[in-house]
Amino acid sequence: MKETSSTDPIGQNVIKLISNVCFSVFVFSVLVFTVIAITYQPPDPWLESSKALTRAFTEVENATFKTDTSVLTTGEDLVAVSPAAAPLAALPITEAVVEKSEEKLKNSTPPVSSCGEAVNCSDPRVLVVIEKFNLKVFKSIVFLDYQTPVNGSKPNECDVAWRFRNKKEKSWRKYRDFRRFRIGVKEDCSYVVAGAGRWHSGINARRQRPKLNSTLSTGGPKNPNPPPVRDDEINDTIPTVGSEVAFSKGRYLYYSRGGDYCKGMNHFLWSFLCGLGEAQFLNRTFVMDLGMCLSAQYNNPSGMDEEGKDFRYYFDFEHLKEEASIVEEGEFLRDWRKWDKTRKKKIPVRKVASYKITPMQLKKDKNTIIWRQFDAPEPENYWYRVCEGPVAKYVQRPWHAVWKSKRLMNIVSEISGRMDWDFDAVHVVRGAKAQNKELWPHLDNDTSPAALFEKLKGMVQPWRNLYIATNEPFYNYFDKLRSQYKVHLLDDYKELWGNTSEWYNETKLLNGGKPVEFDGYMRVAVDTEVLYRAKTRVETFYNLTKDCKDGINTC
Ligand SMILES: *[C@@H]1O[C@H](CO)[C@@H](O)[C@H](O)[C@H]1NC(C)=O
Ligand SMILES: *[C@@H]1O[C@H](CO)[C@@H](O)[C@H](O)[C@H]1NC(C)=O
Ligand SMILES: *[C@@H]1O[C@H](CO)[C@@H](O)[C@H](O)[C@H]1NC(C)=O
Ligand SMILES: *[C@@H]1O[C@H](CO)[C@@H](O)[C@H](O)[C@H]1NC(C)=O
Ligand SMILES: *[C@@H]1O[C@H](CO)[C@@H](O)[C@H](O)[C@H]1NC(C)=O
Ligand SMILES: *[C@@H]1O[C@H](CO)[C@@H](O)[C@H](O)[C@H]1NC(C)=O
Ligand SMILES: *[C@@H]1O[C@H](CO)[C@@H](O)[C@H](O)[C@H]1NC(C)=O
Ligand SMILES: *[C@@H]1O[C@H](CO)[C@@H](O)[C@H](O)[C@H]1NC(C)=O
Ligand SMILES: *[C@@H]1O[C@H](CO)[C@@H](O)[C@H](O)[C@H]1NC(C)=O
Ligand SMILES: *[C@@H]1O[C@H](CO)[C@@H](O)[C@H](O)[C@H]1NC(C)=O
Repeated sequence: MKETSSTDPIGQNVIKLISNVCFSVFVFSVLVFTVIAITYQPPDPWLESSKALTRAFTEVENATFKTDTSVLTTGEDLVAVSPAAAPLAALPITEAVVEKSEEKLKNSTPPVSSCGEAVNCSDPRVLVVIEKFNLKVFKSIVFLDYQTPVNGSKPNECDVAWRFRNKKEKSWRKYRDFRRFRIGVKEDCSYVVAGAGRWHSGINARRQRPKLNSTLSTGGPKNPNPPPVRDDEINDTIPTVGSEVAFSKGRYLYYSRGGDYCKGMNHFLWSFLCGLGEAQFLNRTFVMDLGMCLSAQYNNPSGMDEEGKDFRYYFDFEHLKEEASIVEEGEFLRDWRKWDKTRKKKIPVRKVASYKITPMQLKKDKNTIIWRQFDAPEPENYWYRVCEGPVAKYVQRPWHAVWKSKRLMNIVSEISGRMDWDFDAVHVVRGAKAQNKELWPHLDNDTSPAALFEKLKGMVQPWRNLYIATNEPFYNYFDKLRSQYKVHLLDDYKELWGNTSEWYNETKLLNGGKPVEFDGYMRVAVDTEVLYRAKTRVETFYNLTKDCKDGINTC
């Protein structure tokens, strides 16, 4: 070695140089590969406006889905629920309501004697100042009902819980918050809110959650006494059919699994709602498979379609049970087999082999079970084909029956709440679209950190909370914006679905005790919903780039 280096230093150096170059090339290519690996994303799963969705849905008749990469618009987005339809107990607490109760207090309670003493949290006047404070601060929230405040951790603190809904959400679904307030006493002995804690800070006002038991899991023997479920808790239990008499008196519509399985969510919903619509048209109970398969397009870590998902991860099963007559497939098949065996006569069933047999033709059918089998090759085996053509005049898809999972929406509320509902948001679409220069020539450049920084300057005030909803997987991509805004990304809230979260506990219970992954579809659903709650919303298409959403020359 030494010998060579002394006799031929140049050659040695050349070799060194070459090997350095080779190594650099190697490092560089690994880097490039890594960058490609982390920035590559399958078709970006982004939201379509409900109008676009409806159009896509209605235009699609026989064809397969093209616009299947978006987050669903579900019942709570589509149907504006009038306040009249809201439950009586949920009348909003408006300024007028607060003033009225204030008036009442003035007339009924004796003048304050506790001036200078510790604040009495159960004094109704404490609640009144808190209600007024909330109305002033949280303009996008409708407050529905308050609990009597309880003591906080210090003498002048009170914790109070209430239910609310967001004005941006059209459904009357209620969420809970509980916060800690510092109460001051003014010179005239009236109360004033001296400070308010953050989202879910009033832990003394939080009601104890009863321990949920494993009756929530799919399958398994039924617990005859399900645990009591509070109104703000989620009742995901699977309804039972019950006795033989009840079963044989029922009328069922059963769809076998078809080609829709493992397709995108929009395809799933379009198909599922067709089946549910037919069941309603036929006045039958729909037999539903809670098992789902998440299409690979939602960026599953495995890169493949993932089976073993549960409808209840994504949608509100409790609401569905209230809106539609359904029975879970596993339950149904068990009962069917059982009663078929024990009865002398088999349970009458009509098998329907083709979607071409219309719901109208089945209207008069008296069999206990109508079983649609979807055995034909694709695309003949899609459920939604049942609702094609003239059937559309008879069968209505019950959109109002499907809402997003409340567990996901709780995460949305939590994120928005932590920013005190006071944030702006920018939607940054990158992923595959940014890489496709043919269809989106400027998108990549227009969503570069520098371009974002410049464009946002004109639209979002400095130092606002800025939520970035994006399919850009590289967390530090937006760091440049941090010199100008308080940047929030979905991953900043990881603990909301991490292994110490309520979401984790509850979904685990649904999954027979196995942890549930917070998957790509859930991420997009939460990201999108937070985006919708922003005060100022900056969209990629229209606001950041002149490229068209669906590619060149489509707008
Ligand atoms: C759907 O298919 C039917 C026959 O299969 C055809 O008559 C109809 O025109 C098709 N509709 C569209 C929109 O292509
Ligand atoms: C606090 O106020 C409530 C309601 O006015 C009253 O019933 C209670 O006795 C008060 N408690 C104290 C310690 O003053
Ligand atoms: C709440 O605090 C007040 C004063 O700090 C005290 O008198 C009262 O007993 C407390 N109430 C409860 C339920 O702890
Ligand atoms: C679940 O229910 C069973 C009986 O149904 C009971 O023995 C068990 O303690 C319960 N578990 C929890 C965590 O409440
Ligand atoms: C949960 O919902 C089912 C109907 O699906 C109902 O039978 C049951 O009583 C509910 N449980 C509670 C505790 O409300
Ligand atoms: C629907 O079915 C239920 C029982 O399954 C029956 O009581 C009711 O009359 C039916 N309604 C119509 C409109 O057929
Ligand atoms: C990229 O965007 C910057 C502004 O951020 C602009 O100056 C530049 O011309 C753009 N480049 C291309 C190739 O469009
Ligand atoms: C939660 O996850 C962390 C790391 O992923 C692990 O260290 C911890 O033990 C887990 N906790 C529980 C309760 O599973
Ligand atoms: C989740 O469950 C674990 C164990 O059952 C419990 O210790 C933890 O407090 C629960 N977390 C939440 C947020 O409910
Ligand atoms: C985004 O573009 C739309 C349509 O041009 C416009 O109405 C909206 O005000 C823009 N948003 C912002 C924050 O500038």
